[in-house]
Amino acid sequence: MKMMKKAKWCGLLLVALVVVLPSRADEGMWLPSLIGERIKDMRQKGFRLTAEDIYSVNHASMKDAIVLFGGGCTGELVSGEGLLFTNHHCGYRQIQQHSSVEHDYLTNGFWAMSRAEELPNPGLSVSFLVRMDDVTEAVLKGVTDKMTVAERDSLIARNSASVIEKATEGTHYTAAIKPLYFGNQYFIYVTEVFTDVRLVAAPPSAIGKFGGDTDNWMWPRHTGDFSVFRIYAGKDNKPASYSRENVPYRPKKYFTIATSGVKEGDFTMIYGFPGRTQRYVISDAVDFILNRSNPLKIDLRTRRLRIFNEEQARDTRTRIQYAAKNASVANAWKKWQGESKGIARLGTIEKKRQQEAAFEAWAADKPQYRGVLPQLKKLYGELDENAYAVDCFNEGLAGIELLSFTGRIAPGTPVAEIRKRAEVFYKDYSPVIDRRVAADLFSEYVKRLPARFLSDSLRRAIDAAGGAAAYIEEVMNRSSFASVEGYEALKGDSVALTKALAEDPAAALYRQTRKSVLPAGKEAKRLNLEIAELYKVYVQGLREMSPDYAFYPDANLTLRVAYGHVAGYRPQDAVWHEPYTTLEGIIEKDTPEVYDYNVPQGLRDLYASKDYGRWADRDGRIHVAFLATNHTTGGNSGSPILDRRGRLVGINFDRTWLSTMSDIEFDPSMCRNIAVDIRYVLFLIDRLGGAGYLLDEMTFEK
Ligand code: ARG
Ligand code: GLU
Repeated sequence: MKMMKKAKWCGLLLVALVVVLPSRADEGMWLPSLIGERIKDMRQKGFRLTAEDIYSVNHASMKDAIVLFGGGCTGELVSGEGLLFTNHHCGYRQIQQHSSVEHDYLTNGFWAMSRAEELPNPGLSVSFLVRMDDVTEAVLKGVTDKMTVAERDSLIARNSASVIEKATEGTHYTAAIKPLYFGNQYFIYVTEVFTDVRLVAAPPSAIGKFGGDTDNWMWPRHTGDFSVFRIYAGKDNKPASYSRENVPYRPKKYFTIATSGVKEGDFTMIYGFPGRTQRYVISDAVDFILNRSNPLKIDLRTRRLRIFNEEQARDTRTRIQYAAKNASVANAWKKWQGESKGIARLGTIEKKRQQEAAFEAWAADKPQYRGVLPQLKKLYGELDENAYAVDCFNEGLAGIELLSFTGRIAPGTPVAEIRKRAEVFYKDYSPVIDRRVAADLFSEYVKRLPARFLSDSLRRAIDAAGGAAAYIEEVMNRSSFASVEGYEALKGDSVALTKALAEDPAAALYRQTRKSVLPAGKEAKRLNLEIAELYKVYVQGLREMSPDYAFYPDANLTLRVAYGHVAGYRPQDAVWHEPYTTLEGIIEKDTPEVYDYNVPQGLRDLYASKDYGRWADRDGRIHVAFLATNHTTGGNSGSPILDRRGRLVGINFDRTWLSTMSDIEFDPSMCRNIAVDIRYVLFLIDRLGGAGYLLDEMTFEK
């Protein structure tokens, strides 16, 4: 009996390991400082360099040529004079900020013809990783099991502060400590931050954002998603705030560019800053994403986007006003849909349940692990409604622009600040869109929000008005801020402006509804902290249970390496997706009357001339984008794609639609990242932009 039980456990365990932790293929986002543990596998797959080439504190290594670009992208150095590449969509804000009707860089592109023409970008910074170290012992020094969570957290915070102080003492570096595996390990990241970063070049949006939101997350893809910046430093080569006296930064390392390209099967690695993954969450968390959160968020955004699209198609001014809003609403909307499809197709929830059963069996005689799953499940049960209410608020009520704008201006905000925000808001505000959105989203909000988070007084007011749509219409009619005219009538008189805002019914509705869901937000936060505590134990248990499995910590916007190879894939029965696209495909998609597919005349001419010079592939064509099996997520945008010799062959900018569940489960047969071929980038700089002088700083190899 006992034997049998054990055999059954082992069997289950085996099933779980095989099913849930499949042959690793190319899954994993690895720590650069520990890449030595992967180097054998990397070399077996074709890599030719060493762990020291990837990360070293003793001499220049690849990590010295990579930056966190702004708050959530990656960039790579391509010259000894501070030149860097990232994506067009990563530099989009800067390109937009420099654009005006006279200098429409978004539409026409921007090519600095000399260093004097490079454009400074206040607020933009890039950071290099100086070094990273395991500081678990120092951070957890003195921490005991007997401490309360609060005591422990405060000791960890104090320990961390002193570790950071020691690590940065006498330097101009900054540092942060981040937990890995939910706090089983801690690493310190020492960084050097540069703030004088200038815009050097960007292609027209019809190239940099070619295909717009239709092609976003899709393959075949033909987007030239790149932009070029330059880092400046003081004369001592150290970070300095913007000054005309600053000089181009001389990096320890920059990437050589391979002009021979890559072909199917070739090794590739990506080195960058992936933002967030949830590799180890339990089935309950995935269930919530698949069956509750994603459907809600997708549906609410579908409604909003339908209205945006209809109104944008009707009117040119509205099209421009809502371009960026539409793009950002649509980006996640589309990603979630792909993620849900992927999770459903893979049966992730069922696989996780099996893994959990195996864990329970394994933990049965281990007191420290035995209770953890039931407890996690209980907490997820409590979290569900609270997290759902928060989603309702963020995606429903907060999607009504007038409410968010007025309601988020805190009482007592100086008038100058109110005016500043109002300028930004009304420049891109369409009352027509917002009234339609409000009627729809407010009705949905009231309908879907768990009843206990809607106040009785609001419910009565809605009933009195004859329903949610009628109620919100009344609120907007009574608001002084529902149109730019209403605001302009007030803006000259500071007293009247402040008073009107303080009494505005739209602002009041925002604050009232927010207050009613606040308990859900607080409860969700508390539960998520407790859940993280339990994950710490659970993941530790998983690692003990499967000592031979190569675990990697979830992405946390720190520098990581992933590797794989160039590969096509089979998205559906009878369909094969080739791993690269070409200029021919751009011309095939050319549709002058459709904004996102209107190929710039200059590119049409280049295509007609067929004069591609050294930027053509062996096959004589210009390769535009390619697919690889590198494990990536948001934040990897702009990351260098490197070949087996560590040479730059592409810039990452997206994943395919059916890959987006790789934040939760990676499927080697389906998951592909999308990169722009570096030769297309150089072709554009050289031939379209006429900025070939920039190539003189770079190093090329056949
Ligand atoms: N999907 C990519 C990312 O997640 C690119 C988004 C920018 N492009 C666009 N058409 N909206 O950031
Ligand atoms: N476009 C994403 C970014 O901005 C990368 C796509 C992904 O999520 O993999 O980081």
